[in-house]
Amino acid sequence: MRVTAILRAMQKLPIGIFDSGLGGLTVAGEIMRALPDEGIVYLGDTARCPYGPRGRDEVRRFVLEIGAWLTSRQVKLIVIACNTASAAGLALAQRAFDVPVIGVVEPGARAAVKATVNRHVGVIGTVGTIASGAYRTAVHALDAGVRVESVATPYFVDVVEQGLRLGEQGTLEEWLADGGDRTLDPPFEPAAREYLEPLAASGIDTLVLGCTHFPLLEESIGRIVGPGVRLISSAGETAREVADTLAMRGHLAPKGSPRREVFATTGDAEEFRGLGTRVLGRPVETSVHVPVTELESLLDVRLEAALAADIQEG
Ligand code: DGL
Repeated sequence: MRVTAILRAMQKLPIGIFDSGLGGLTVAGEIMRALPDEGIVYLGDTARCPYGPRGRDEVRRFVLEIGAWLTSRQVKLIVIACNTASAAGLALAQRAFDVPVIGVVEPGARAAVKATVNRHVGVIGTVGTIASGAYRTAVHALDAGVRVESVATPYFVDVVEQGLRLGEQGTLEEWLADGGDRTLDPPFEPAAREYLEPLAASGIDTLVLGCTHFPLLEESIGRIVGPGVRLISSAGETAREVADTLAMRGHLAPKGSPRREVFATTGDAEEFRGLGTRVLGRPVETSVHVPVTELESLLDVRLEAALAADIQEG
């Protein structure tokens, strides 16, 4: 009887999701589509974006701070909707928090291994993600015979974050096609060709968009690598994993539950509401500002010790 009451209370708790900025909304959107009854608490750490060029220890600290903020909002599961943060801090977060923590690297690798026919896969991501070798490790844990080519394309994160701010409305791809590309320095198209053409020429048949910002450039990337290369984003596979995990634990929200959505940012809340609405393709009703200092204050003695132990481990 008591167990049932606890379980019911757990089912009603929201899912926590975070990223360095807007990119994680590509994952949040998939989760919201797959699980329309679930509440969502999303945090975009816009004030500290990008994570990609930062050191691993710093990103690990951010993962703990934001995980602590989400658990203080009583989430039932945490999704690290950022490849850089997943690569740096997934294991640490899993050890530090009592709820399940799901990253995006393993789901992306799984989707790529399922999709590749010639067993030759490309991965693009931030400097942090590519340098960590997390995709190679995750792909090889599933199929050691798959060849993996990795290229860091950090400029794509700037294009997404800047392009969304410079373009007034519509999608990022529409803005690029409407001449927005010419206002970027350097323009996107030639820079993207430089990154992607050698990758496509290497014979890959599958390309993992190993950064949650990149699905917003999917059409442009697809045009450059050509129809022979299948593009994989981790969003769909991550949403499936979230659904499976909650189902196995009996923690799915009951059908028809009223959906509560909170979108928070360390940057400007009003701007995040506007940009988030464009990325999600549906209205972001509430957006709240969370100061970085508030996140920093959440690292208590226990979390500091977990971080220190993790850093020592390497
Ligand atoms: N969206 C993040 C990722 O998936 C990275 C963007 C950044 O550099 O902050 O890696």
